[in-house]
Amino acid sequence: MKKIKIILIVVASILVMGILQGCSSKKDVSLSEKYKEYFPIGAAVTPENIVTYDSVLKKNFNSLTAENVMKFSEIHPTEDRYSFEKADAIVDYAMENNMLVRGHTLAWYNQVPSWVFKDNKEVASKELVLQRLEDHIKTVVGRYKGKVYCWDVVNEAIDDGPLTLRRSPWTEITGDEYIKNAFIWTHEADPEAELFYNDYNMVLPEKRDKAYEMIKELKEQGIPITGVGIQAHWTLNWPQISDIEAAIEKFASLGIKVQITELDMSYYSWDDESTKYSEPTEETSALQAQRYKEIFEVLRKHKEVISGVTFWGVTDDSSWLNYIPVKGRPNWPLLFDSEMNPKEAYWSIVDFK
Ligand code: GLA
Repeated sequence: MKKIKIILIVVASILVMGILQGCSSKKDVSLSEKYKEYFPIGAAVTPENIVTYDSVLKKNFNSLTAENVMKFSEIHPTEDRYSFEKADAIVDYAMENNMLVRGHTLAWYNQVPSWVFKDNKEVASKELVLQRLEDHIKTVVGRYKGKVYCWDVVNEAIDDGPLTLRRSPWTEITGDEYIKNAFIWTHEADPEAELFYNDYNMVLPEKRDKAYEMIKELKEQGIPITGVGIQAHWTLNWPQISDIEAAIEKFASLGIKVQITELDMSYYSWDDESTKYSEPTEETSALQAQRYKEIFEVLRKHKEVISGVTFWGVTDDSSWLNYIPVKGRPNWPLLFDSEMNPKEAYWSIVDFK
């Protein structure tokens, strides 16, 4: 009888210890640590985020992107003035905490000041616009040389419709010249930096193939380009996992690196302006977790070519999807809730052997 009691106590203690250990190991999981054999895990941040989310960032992320403050209009608002303080704050924080920094972004049609394309009241000449782009790139990339390890050199240059290149002041004035020159000047300013072409809808076959052709041509011309950034502003229902994998494989066949640069998962498809979700339900949380799980299975499978995965934000409430494109409509696209607690989606991507 006494023997049985002892055995029961021993078995019970083992079970309790096991449960406790299970809990604490679950609590102690770090996302970036869990992925250290695969790729760096990044987050896009504002200068405010690095204070508010300090503990979450230090624990789970080993790469940062400035969500806005390195963009042309923020960092170089007028021709004779650069404004580095906010970008410096993010870069310094990353350096202090042993994190990588992705530079975002040098040549984009959006968030670029209009002075770049003007000469007094006239449209500026091609020579002047290219000269300004060169100065901009050399100043910004030069400042962060050795600290920013890769740049989204050109962002969103490809058209979503029938054209190859998107129409913008860059193309109206320089044709396609701004693209290859941007890569060359970035390389001259920091020969060690990795250089990316970054865009959205990159898993849609039509746009993917246009990007493929453009990068192929750049490589054939000897333009320094390391890889392609798939932005990945995805949704609960789109895209299909097989399209994600097909895009990774297609770009990899060019011998370049692939990064996921702006990952989030909206509750709404892109043409949906409704407000049908007022809070996450058991069903939507489970669906989001399942999608994130499947996405990361594919990314891990292709770890030889995937050299970074960055989320576009940290917590749901501060995501751009809660401000634009449909302002005031709640959305829950990320891994952490507004209390900074990891969501089911978080556990779904760290829970693998
Ligand atoms: C694009 C840009 C990002 C950001 C998002 C929306 O994807 O590359 O910098 O502006 O749109 O926030």
